[in-house]
Amino acid sequence: MNIAVLGTGKVGSALGAGLASSGHHVVYGSRNPGKTPTTLSQRAAVASADVVITALPGTAVLSTLEEIGEDVLGDKIVLDPSAALTPQMTMAYYGDSVAGRVQARFPRARVVKALNTMNFTIMVDPQARLSYATVFVSGDDPAAKRTVNGLLADLGWPQEWILDLGDIGTALATEHAAPLFFATVRALQSPTFNIAVLSATATATATPRPAPSVGEL
Ligand SMILES: NC(=O)c1ccc[n+]([C@@H]2O[C@H](COP(=O)([O-])OP(=O)(O)OC[C@H]3O[C@@H](n4cnc5c(N)ncnc54)[C@H](OP(=O)(O)O)[C@@H]3O)[C@@H](O)[C@H]2O)c1
Repeated sequence: MNIAVLGTGKVGSALGAGLASSGHHVVYGSRNPGKTPTTLSQRAAVASADVVITALPGTAVLSTLEEIGEDVLGDKIVLDPSAALTPQMTMAYYGDSVAGRVQARFPRARVVKALNTMNFTIMVDPQARLSYATVFVSGDDPAAKRTVNGLLADLGWPQEWILDLGDIGTALATEHAAPLFFATVRALQSPTFNIAVLSATATATATPRPAPSVGEL
């Protein structure tokens, strides 16, 4: 697929490299285009893409997409791994989500929230360090979620580790897990961990295949 990664920081670089190594054509959209041959302006990067990854500060996602323009964004898939935090690391959009705001502002775009509940090193190689983990997916468009599930598989996520929470409204729940993430980092003194949802009943999840129960691990 043609993928535009907006942002050339830790998440953008990791996801871009991971997806490129799986055979995808990846370009980066940056405020400073030209620093590498594949680093374009944000608008040029999105124009060439099927999937747009918003690896940006959560509070910059909406304004960046506004600058790129609805004409360019169209009905592309927007995979949003961002977290909207204040400089004090509290929730910037308490009671709301970046992904929900983007979907409301750009109704033709097909927004999927995923990968925002883990460190960037886990996003691109979950099986290297974890025997089981959960990646949450939220979005309104089933086809877009199938595409994102395929990209997650390319990054090393087994399908049974992917938990489809439902529509884009459920992104609020995972975005508001940020304080849990940071509290856990402090407790473990490490960011390399992941949430793992264990189902006590085989039918309790909305995953294509049920998550393993505790006794199966
Ligand atoms: N780091 C993690 O492990 C992790 C985990 C889960 C979620 N997240 C979320 O993922 C997103 C990216 O995180 P990150 O760690 O990659 O951050 P980062 O290293 O700071 O990179 C963010 C990139 O976004 C661009 N950017 C920065 N400020 C911007 C602004 N005001 N407007 C437009 N673009 C701006 C920059 O790229 P250019 O200079 O090229 O434009 C920058 O390199 C954030 O929302 C973060 O909360 C991060």
